[in-house]
Amino acid sequence: MATKGRTIKMVGFLQAQNCSIAPGSWRHPAASTDYLGPDHFTRVARVLEEGKFHLAFFDDRLAMPDIYGRDHRAAVENGIRVVKMDPATILAVMSAATTRLGLGGTYSTTYYEPFHVARLFATLDLMSRGRAAWNVVTSLNDSEAANFGRTEHLAHDLRYDRADEFMEAVMGHWDSWEDDAIILDKESGRFADGDKVHALKHEGKFFRTHGPLPVPRSAQGHPVLIQAGQSGRGRRFAGRWGELIFVVYPNLAAGKKQYAELKAAVAEAGRDPDSVAVAPACYVNVAETSAQAEDKRAFTEALAKPVDAVVLLSEALNFDFASKDMDSEFTDEELKRLSWGGFKDRVVQLSGKPNPTVRDFVSFSGRGTTREFPNFTGTPKQVADQMEEWFEGRACDGFVLVASQYPGSFEDFSRLVVPELQRRGLYHRDYAGATLRENLGLPRPGIGAWKGGNS
Ligand SMILES: Cc1cc2nc3c(=O)[nH]c(=O)nc-3n(C[C@H](O)[C@H](O)[C@H](O)COP(=O)(O)O)c2cc1C
Repeated sequence: MATKGRTIKMVGFLQAQNCSIAPGSWRHPAASTDYLGPDHFTRVARVLEEGKFHLAFFDDRLAMPDIYGRDHRAAVENGIRVVKMDPATILAVMSAATTRLGLGGTYSTTYYEPFHVARLFATLDLMSRGRAAWNVVTSLNDSEAANFGRTEHLAHDLRYDRADEFMEAVMGHWDSWEDDAIILDKESGRFADGDKVHALKHEGKFFRTHGPLPVPRSAQGHPVLIQAGQSGRGRRFAGRWGELIFVVYPNLAAGKKQYAELKAAVAEAGRDPDSVAVAPACYVNVAETSAQAEDKRAFTEALAKPVDAVVLLSEALNFDFASKDMDSEFTDEELKRLSWGGFKDRVVQLSGKPNPTVRDFVSFSGRGTTREFPNFTGTPKQVADQMEEWFEGRACDGFVLVASQYPGSFEDFSRLVVPELQRRGLYHRDYAGATLRENLGLPRPGIGAWKGGNS
């Protein structure tokens, strides 16, 4: 029986790589070592579905982390997110092993074409019977640009301008087939109604794409849209398009403020703020006793190497951290060049310094360690208390659970925390339906709904 009322939306944060977002995770003695084959991902998908997670979601980066020292060697030697397989292919494998779990993948609006992304996710949506989601990102660094024949990454706001037009083109493609276009009358030989299939004929500043998309609509209309913009421009973009918005909060107070700002951005875009779920990234260390949970937390924290942080900071911020001493401050000009606006703002805020040093970026961001996100630690009851405080305090509508080890982090959460949250009526007892939209409580979009039409 499904739980009534507002309940937590739960997302498993996955990486199609040798480790989670924390490189120390591959060094964990209990971590799976078969991530280069389907068994690992099938196992993770089943664990998430048993825990009734709404969504499994892969991040992505279109290059190795090689900005640090302008070389990939440190990343490769230390296994710092150097494997990056294509997420959509793995989602198809996971789809075959599950029936209710949502399947989300990251694709870039800066390096792909709208037709390609529209077709890929529409196909995944059909093959998973309406469980697909696309995390819309604008990408982060010059290494990604270099893999796509460009010399440098696009400037921040320009990336979002391009992304807005990209979205209009993708939505236009997804509107190609009306829901009742297919007739499939073998006797008369009439396959579909030509008047119910439309070409978008998009001609804009960045893209020209004609259509129609040769993929009809799925059970949920079209894939769910995920976004994670946190800067002013990023928030506007998320407010316009995101149906599920991922965030990083340094603490509960900042979270409440950001949550309100994001909901306001959704309202400003003319959409219903209650229809958009906001979910911060978090770690969970749960065990039978709080001492055991603290031990777990300390153990995983100790798996991080100092090089993990500087390699991953260089990658995310598109700046070579090897080019500066640990205690030298970033100049105003250097800060302006950093690729990830919200990330930089967080370090400035937490350090209390307008010009943080390299050391400040390492310690206040927690990048490359399990200190990067809030870490809910304790017994099942203590972890549930913390999550309840965030959820009921209107800092979020759900959580993006980051693994400190695959698949143990998800197993622990499903086995120990989910039953406690269910007892409190905060977590659904079962999936509400077959499609991701049904499970997230999102409406099935009608043709043209994104333009403010009927849905
Ligand atoms: C939970 C989470 C996951 C993200 N995953 C990716 C990703 O897979 N690929 C990527 O290029 N950016 C990713 N980002 C970065 C965002 O897409 C975005 O670039 C970033 O939040 C900067 O936006 P801003 O400049 O508006 O602050 C992620 C951000 C968050 C909070």
